Amino acid sequence: MLSERIQKMTPSATLSLNQKAGELTKQGIDIINMAVGQPDFQVPENIRLVAEKAAREGHGKYTPATGKIELRQAISGKFKRENNLKYDVNEIVVASGAKPILFATVLALCNPGDEVIVPAPYWVTYPDDIRLCGANPVFVEAREENKFAITADAIAEKITDKTRLLILNDPSNPTGAIIPKEEKEKIAELCLKHNIWILSDEIYERLVFEEEYFSIASLGEDIWNKTITLNGLSKTYAMPGWRIGYAGIPLELAKKIGGALSHITGNPNTIAQIAGIEALNGSQDEVGKMIQIYKKRRDMFLDGLSKIEGIKCVKPGGAFYLYPNLSSHYDSNITNSTQMAEKLLVEAHIAAVPGAAFGTDEHVRLSFATSEEKINECLIRLEKFFG
Ligand SMILES: Cc1ncc(COP(=O)(O)O)c(C=O)c1O
Repeated sequence: MLSERIQKMTPSATLSLNQKAGELTKQGIDIINMAVGQPDFQVPENIRLVAEKAAREGHGKYTPATGKIELRQAISGKFKRENNLKYDVNEIVVASGAKPILFATVLALCNPGDEVIVPAPYWVTYPDDIRLCGANPVFVEAREENKFAITADAIAEKITDKTRLLILNDPSNPTGAIIPKEEKEKIAELCLKHNIWILSDEIYERLVFEEEYFSIASLGEDIWNKTITLNGLSKTYAMPGWRIGYAGIPLELAKKIGGALSHITGNPNTIAQIAGIEALNGSQDEVGKMIQIYKKRRDMFLDGLSKIEGIKCVKPGGAFYLYPNLSSHYDSNITNSTQMAEKLLVEAHIAAVPGAAFGTDEHVRLSFATSEEKINECLIRLEKFFG
């Protein structure tokens, strides 16, 4: 018999879809994959060259479990320069992606039965991590009318004496929503009043299209002391497979999270860490170009969608996803997002992620981490399918 915790884990919603997409592709059907969750760009060359040199020089030993000091210094500099956040090198934890830090944070803060507030739509991993740690996710709706940005008032309604942690994710995966600064102030005040920790997942923070990003922990010392600022190289530098995530964490908690990670994963890949120093300290030109390209794709994709009958789509402020509401096309054959995604796959040959995976059932997630050509083809197929 398996443990109660592991039995609570939900099967990946994208798995069966991917399997089906794979089968159709094998049959020679041209599926356009709009379900991707990673940049389609190549890792910038300066980063690759540093990694190549490090490998040639034979850097292969263990590093400190929470990352090389030089990398933590580079991260500390990035936080200061770009986010107005002061973290000492000992308050920075580097891991094999942002994912293990997320898990270790919930593990470090929550006892079985504690509650973690998660705004929905949410990134798929949060609820499962929370349940795996024996805690309970409590969902709060980020309303579409409010461009999917969560409000302090909505969060306040879900607070109980068991609430330990709030997870914020902006720009959001899957909606691209960014919480306005004034709302972050209210959320910070609320969390301080109720002694609730915040895990601020800022992994898409550089991929913003209109406004400057604002980190909640930069609001003041009190909230800094209750916040884990989570980030990583996966999205900004198109390095998802290199597995480097990092976080700024108040010292005592950083020690505990670092300690847990030292037993679970040990240090993140040594070569990728050395390359990560170049990513953060080296030229940011390629990142600037990628952001411009994402923005152009977002605009053309949104424009195209707006011309298709019955599709409503909130304009995302960041990240690389659109989260259109397709519910006006629901009928007796298509009654939910899973059926919609299946029909899109089998009949329109478009792979999209059903909203059910993110906690809403009227939407699908379409990624624009793919070429303009594919976006155009996707629009043509959608037009034909819904037309
Ligand atoms: C919102 C969000 N947070 C964290 C991650 C995890 O990133 P990493 O590759 O650093 O583990 C992802 C990846 O899809 C994400 O979308």
